[in-house]
Amino acid sequence: VAQDGPPDPLAREVLAGLRSQPKSLPPKLFYDAAGSALFDRITELPEYYLTRAEAEILDRHGPELAALLGDGGVLIEPGCGSSVKAASILRHLARPTYVGLDIEIDALTRGARELRERVPDVTVRSVPVDYTAGFDVPGLPEGRRMAFFPGSTIGNFDRDDAVAFLARLRELVGADGVVVVGADPWKDPAVLRAAYDDAAGVTAEFNRNALRHLVRRYGLVLDPERFAHEIRLDADRRRIEMHLVSIGAQSWTIWGHPVRFEDRETIHTESCHKWTIDEFRALAAEAGLRPVRTFTDREGRFVEHAFAPL
Ligand SMILES: C[S@@+](CC[C@H](N)C(=O)[O-])C[C@H]1O[C@@H](n2cnc3c(N)ncnc32)[C@H](O)[C@@H]1O
Repeated sequence: VAQDGPPDPLAREVLAGLRSQPKSLPPKLFYDAAGSALFDRITELPEYYLTRAEAEILDRHGPELAALLGDGGVLIEPGCGSSVKAASILRHLARPTYVGLDIEIDALTRGARELRERVPDVTVRSVPVDYTAGFDVPGLPEGRRMAFFPGSTIGNFDRDDAVAFLARLRELVGADGVVVVGADPWKDPAVLRAAYDDAAGVTAEFNRNALRHLVRRYGLVLDPERFAHEIRLDADRRRIEMHLVSIGAQSWTIWGHPVRFEDRETIHTESCHKWTIDEFRALAAEAGLRPVRTFTDREGRFVEHAFAPL
């Protein structure tokens, strides 16, 4: 069986990443049921200011964001996870429709159930999809559309891919639509480092879950414990990188292919780009979007951008 090659598109992506130099894995690999649960724990960590800062913005400015969509509007959230943030907008509207898109079925199901509890008036649709593969959402109801991409997940894309993704969201919402995106600006490196390398080690477990997911999903023989969590700050590129560092040299056979690690060689598992308001507006302009409203929390740690097509 090991000789049969990668069994599906994700496996092909994994193998290509592990056979490239430097080695990498796609961030979507963090997410199976265990990974989604770990991400939810990250959002509650004292060091992880992002979720609290964004929740403060959405609590305070939910009515203004809702007004940009309007009653009967359709809110589409790629990578919706627990869907809690969308409730801050939807609860101010009559008869809204919510379309949650996610690669991880467990989060999708749980998010839909919890959203119905929080917003009784909402119609919920859940679509299992990999949004990096290009996606379409057929059969959307009539009504103004808002694409909602909170949490600074946009920072996982390199700049060019972020522009392409925003352009896709602009197309999805159409000429009278709105695109709302959470972005996390660069700040004190100590604050950034702590947010991605927490004292309780939850982010380290989340990072290692990329490998645990591979073991569970495909039955690969490898030991996630032989990789250490490492954070790298790249101030020039304004990004944080998450890596898994090989503890000692090791070799695996993955779908019939040898993959060798030198001691201390790393797998790059995620980048988190940190764009200021101006940098992010410039990026969005390249995607054909103009700013309509921009909200920050009281301490100015996080930014919620609302854009409309140019
Ligand atoms: C960082 S979490 C953000 C969750 C939520 N939107 C929030 O802001 O708290 C990223 C979510 O996107 C999903 N995801 C990651 N990569 C994805 C992909 N390529 N396609 C679809 N969903 C993806 C994950 O399963 C997870 O639920």
